[in-house]
Amino acid sequence: MASQIDHLLNESRRFPPSEEFAANAVASPQIYAQAAAGSAEFWADQARELLHWHTPFTRTLDWSNPPFAKWFDDGELNVAYNCLDRHVLAGNGDRIAIHWEGEPGDSRSISYAELTAEVKKAANLLTSLGVRTGDRVAIYLPMIPEAVIAMLAVARLGAVHSVVFGGFSAESLRARIDDANAKLVITADGGWRKGKVSPLKPAVDAALESPGHNVRNVLVVRRGENTVDWVEGRDLWWHEEIAAVDADHVAKAFPAENPLFILYTSGTTGKPKGILHTSGGYLTQVAFTHKNVFDLRPESDVYWCTADVGWITGHSYVAYGPLANGATQVLYEGTPDSPHPGRWWEIIEKYGVSIFYTAPTAIRSFMKLGRQIPQGFDLTSLRVLGSVGEPINPEAWIWYHDVIGGGSAPIVDTWWQTETGAIMISALPGVTSLKPGSAQVPIPGIRIDVVDDDGQHVGTGNGGLLVVSEPWPSMLRGIWGDPDRYRETYWQKFGDKYFAGDGARLDDDGDIWLLGRVDDVMNVSGHRLSTAEIESSLVSHPYVAEAAVVGASDETTGQAVVAFVIVKASQADVASAAEASDLLRAHVAQQIGAIARPRQIFIVAELPKTRSGKIMRRLLRDVAEGREVGDTTTLADTSVMQIITDRLQ
Ligand code: PRX
Repeated sequence: MASQIDHLLNESRRFPPSEEFAANAVASPQIYAQAAAGSAEFWADQARELLHWHTPFTRTLDWSNPPFAKWFDDGELNVAYNCLDRHVLAGNGDRIAIHWEGEPGDSRSISYAELTAEVKKAANLLTSLGVRTGDRVAIYLPMIPEAVIAMLAVARLGAVHSVVFGGFSAESLRARIDDANAKLVITADGGWRKGKVSPLKPAVDAALESPGHNVRNVLVVRRGENTVDWVEGRDLWWHEEIAAVDADHVAKAFPAENPLFILYTSGTTGKPKGILHTSGGYLTQVAFTHKNVFDLRPESDVYWCTADVGWITGHSYVAYGPLANGATQVLYEGTPDSPHPGRWWEIIEKYGVSIFYTAPTAIRSFMKLGRQIPQGFDLTSLRVLGSVGEPINPEAWIWYHDVIGGGSAPIVDTWWQTETGAIMISALPGVTSLKPGSAQVPIPGIRIDVVDDDGQHVGTGNGGLLVVSEPWPSMLRGIWGDPDRYRETYWQKFGDKYFAGDGARLDDDGDIWLLGRVDDVMNVSGHRLSTAEIESSLVSHPYVAEAAVVGASDETTGQAVVAFVIVKASQADVASAAEASDLLRAHVAQQIGAIARPRQIFIVAELPKTRSGKIMRRLLRDVAEGREVGDTTTLADTSVMQIITDRLQ
């Protein structure tokens, strides 16, 4: 990490915008001055300009009860109407909203008029199943149009969706269903992944097997055509039900602070947090950032964000941002390398994608395969590239710029979080001179700072903790059902500033360089995982006496999960270390989901602990990354690290 940071800080290449790009850019340098004159007013202007309000708001920000913000709270709108009907009414019904590409090569292009019609029917279907304003609906779907349709149908009713990534296990799904007290689950028989159908419905069946939940129905989209079990009276086929409902549906207006969705994310404890987002402020900031950060021209651009709707990026920059802006986008079901390693580039060529948004981990894995693969496709339509989820190392930035962007497309490195709801730090194409590896500047209307442990600004040239110093429209409104945890996690440390959990440094120009998490949250392929959650999964196995998990740096995935496990004496002979490690890796994948499966598990006799019993993860990270073990003087037993490293050699 230290050498990586040094390397980052020595990066001095600059990429100013071309004159031509700057002359035609959506954003202009004046936008910063405009926002600086008053950020609340700036956001009020954006909210009026970018959205349709059934009832215009007269109040902008209510921060009288911090840290619980209210934005535009006497205004009323319908989020789905903003993403659909109004584009049709404005004469853009024939514009393609979604070019959907299935992994096996089947495809479907859906216009705004068609998408609106589908969502209206889906809203009627959900109403017929008893979904009312405020009810929670769990969505567990592959990347098919119905995922977006389901989200918008829930939003149209003023209900609340909780999308659960299809890679999460039955147990993780159940925990989320219970926490949100969902009454309906929308799933599919299965979806295509890596050349075959990956079933989803069995996980829903397993999740709902034990009593104690309030799910009345499971709505099943037919996609994989795999055989599924059926619970009569509970399970319903989406295609059968939707054929029977009315096509007309009038969108009702809801207050701007009506909850829109809950999305679970990993924190420092074992229990995922249900991040709550509401309607008017959220939609304002996702629409604003989608338009300005990606230089969007909805009439001519074809936009593609590769994120799954199961993550925040898929909520804000697949579902809500692009549709609120009336953009045409690509939605792809499968993996980047199925059925061949050029699949993504083939899709860009096929649809003439002009704006492309993905994660550094994907870029690094393409780099490994070599430039000849993308070079086999026509990528000249690309004009803006985006990066999200983790710091992009300068090598990957340059490769992305040269090989994918033809040496000219600007790259926006966007920093944000599930909690922030929308992009917070990013260059603006055509305005900002780009620096590979730096996320650079807060977007207009956002106040970011880098502070020391006492909350004091560190000044240029220094490192510290990243904070947001003023409330922002798309900020989380809390943790579902747990206001205390919301206060403690994000506000306790600095009182009046939001603590993001990331380390950052300000360079001499005041630009921001993200340095990774400062807590026990790992970032694997741009996905957040908690060390505590994986540790508690490991110790739930009868073999395991104690476990410690660290995020070790990994060339492709950024970080990788590495676990150190002490096996119970009574089980020591049951399996060899290799067998135990395989078994436990499978156990974690089954309990949490394949994304959490440790890359390596070391079976050890001891764990390094301080005198107060705290595990020294820093030392374990040294072992996991193959480094000389650092200072061990604060260990209760200084010989422990020797025992661990001897065993592993
Ligand atoms: O550590 C930061 C990292 O991802 C975390 C947020 O993860 P999540 O809520 O899953 O959202 C990911 C997609 C928005 C942050 O705390 N992160 C995200 N984007 C960047 C980043 N780190 C550095 N540079 C980025 N551009």
